[in-house]
Amino acid sequence: MHRSRFIGIGSYLPPRVVTNDDLAEMMDTSDEWIKTRSGISERRWVEPDVTTTDLGLKAADAALDSAGLDRSDIDMIVFATLSPDHEFPGNACFLQAKLDLPGIPAIDVRQQCTGFVYATSIADAMIRAGNASTVLVVGAEIHSKGLDLTTRGRDVSVLFGDGAGAAVMQATEVSDPAVDSHVLSTHLHADGAFAEALWLPAPGMAYEKFSTSAQLEAGLQYPQMDGRAVFVNAVTRMPEAVEEALAANDLTADDIDVFVFHQANMRIIEAAAHRLGAPADKIVNTIDHTANTTAATLPICLDEAAKSGRLEAGMLVAAAAFGSGFTWGSMIIRW
Ligand code: COA
Repeated sequence: MHRSRFIGIGSYLPPRVVTNDDLAEMMDTSDEWIKTRSGISERRWVEPDVTTTDLGLKAADAALDSAGLDRSDIDMIVFATLSPDHEFPGNACFLQAKLDLPGIPAIDVRQQCTGFVYATSIADAMIRAGNASTVLVVGAEIHSKGLDLTTRGRDVSVLFGDGAGAAVMQATEVSDPAVDSHVLSTHLHADGAFAEALWLPAPGMAYEKFSTSAQLEAGLQYPQMDGRAVFVNAVTRMPEAVEEALAANDLTADDIDVFVFHQANMRIIEAAAHRLGAPADKIVNTIDHTANTTAATLPICLDEAAKSGRLEAGMLVAAAAFGSGFTWGSMIIRW
């Protein structure tokens, strides 16, 4: 079987730690409120001169190191982010220039918290079709520069952090699926009826002008969220996507060695795990120290799991995400 596999994983968190108490100095919130509602203790923020592709570059080089490959071995870049350096072109092109890899295809994925699942799915499909052999898949986000750090924005601002993760995926011939490292499946979903339940309204071409002072005055440049709608849908959709993946591969939750869920909120993760019957010792969480890093979340989790020895070659991984769009999806990987 001609398949794709993960051969390298890496991540990068900017050094500046921002605690819940630090946020309480900027807005009316508390460590107790944030921890109880989300499980978050701290997050990382970039310095003002750092861009999302700077974070992506560090994660990419770490992933290449872990794969034992050079930059020149990459023949495609897929970059998932909701916080690109510029409106256009996409971050994959800016990262490509930093990697000095002219000529190879570079694709941006704008699927927010499900971005890494969509990006992996695209890389997997391109490899299976024979259109690429070694794909760099990056998820990177800078939230800190775009949050409303006043009490008006506290429902959203306390939940997000900056960071990046990256994977190197490569073509492989699988002879024994029970042993050989490969991506078993990806399942993707979306429901645009909920597009405005978690979104960044402006700037945009939906207005008479792309960018107006009226938008700024109304605070439309900050993310807006219906937290309840996100919560209710996430606790259903993430486990549903994992169940779909398990059924498609003729597996049960007991067969899975490591579960990785999108790190938005500890209560969402616990509800998803409960529905699946996934025991706590099989679940990798980073939310306490990363907060929600959107498209960077899953590769950061995978990298931390690999570095801590919880994720080893041959293990079966089930990963799932849910986010703005709404988008959601899952993947099953033999590591
Ligand atoms: N600090 C203190 N108080 C806050 C706050 C903060 N950072 N943010 C909101 N509040 C206040 C609200 O103003 C509201 O006050 P009110 O009752 O006086 O109007 C109150 O807290 C809301 O409390 P509650 O209803 O108990 O909150 P909740 O249990 O619904 O939790 C969320 C709110 C946002 C944590 C929850 O809805 C959630 O986790 N949603 C999913 C968010 C998510 O994961 N988004 C990303 C998905 S990819």
